[in-house]
Amino acid sequence: MPSNYGVRLLFVGGAIGLMAVVGLLLKGLLVPDSFGVYGSYRADAIVEEAEKPIRHGTNASCFACHPYEAKSHKNGLHARISCEFCHGTHGDHAKGNKKIGTLPVKKNREITTLCLRCHNNEIKARPEQVIKTVAMPQHLEVQKVKLTHTCNQCHYVHAPLQYINKAKQITGIQETTL
Ligand code: HEC
Ligand code: HEC
Ligand code: HEC
Ligand code: HEC
Repeated sequence: MPSNYGVRLLFVGGAIGLMAVVGLLLKGLLVPDSFGVYGSYRADAIVEEAEKPIRHGTNASCFACHPYEAKSHKNGLHARISCEFCHGTHGDHAKGNKKIGTLPVKKNREITTLCLRCHNNEIKARPEQVIKTVAMPQHLEVQKVKLTHTCNQCHYVHAPLQYINKAKQITGIQETTL
């Protein structure tokens, strides 16, 4: 039987050789040209990413067209918060000095959800010195208002303490009507 072994050996050797050749061919075909120029990634990806249109503006990119909101925002305790965090991207909305699309505007309960993404007392990684948080529904209970109140009924979203004294007076009135 030794000759049989020889044939098998040749066959296995041939198969391995064929796989190596096919592998090399496939590698040449499938690995992108610029792969490995700077490291084990596609060098062209850098250029492609850099050429993508910029979608985010800064807060300043909103000010010229929205002077009313800009004024409150700049002078309020949310001055350092990004307009786009709450509203969506500049690129979906304006181009040059034209409005090109509508941004979603949150309403009622959606506003509460938005505020609590940053101000929820349950998020333990936020110390008081960095950001004041509230526990719900206790924040409303202590003020004796209905628990269906949304944050913007007392806090102006663009400057959260701007009208708070007015809100206190109003909740004072509601206290007696409850
Ligand atoms: C903390 C979140 C937040 C930030 C930051 C914020 N906004 Fe708003 N904005 C809102 C919410 C919520 C409303 C809806 C208010 C309501 O219904 O009481 C709103 C309403 C508006 C409206 C009126 C929309 C309409 O047609 O009713 C404009 C315009 C606006 N914001 C622009 C801005 C600009 C410009 C900035 C930055 C200078 C900004 N906002 C920053 C949350 C925010
Ligand atoms: C080129 C001018 C322009 C720029 C820049 C601009 N807006 Fe507006 N925006 C408008 C106009 C016009 C309206 C519609 C009338 C209005 O509500 O004042 C509008 C409306 C809105 C609305 C109400 C929903 C809607 O789309 O109609 C929001 C929210 C808003 N803008 C937020 C922003 C934010 C945040 C920025 C900065 C990232 C921004 N805008 C930048 C012109 C602009
Ligand atoms: C992206 C995170 C973020 C969102 C969303 C946000 N806030 Fe704030 N808010 C802050 C930060 C940060 C401060 C503290 C600013 C500072 O101290 O300079 C602040 C300050 C405040 C303050 C003043 C607290 C104090 O006494 O110092 C109130 C009240 C407040 N926010 C209410 C709201 C309400 C209501 C909403 C929803 C409309 C909201 N915030 C949405 C981050 C956020
Ligand atoms: C019934 C009115 C009312 C509603 C509704 C309300 N607040 Fe307040 N909030 C107040 C008052 C009043 C203060 C105290 C302001 C002051 O320091 O004089 C306050 C204070 C805060 C503070 C600062 C807390 C601190 O430790 O100094 C934050 C943050 C805040 N509110 C967030 C929210 C958020 C988020 C919502 C919605 C989930 C909300 N508030 C709903 C009236 C309200």
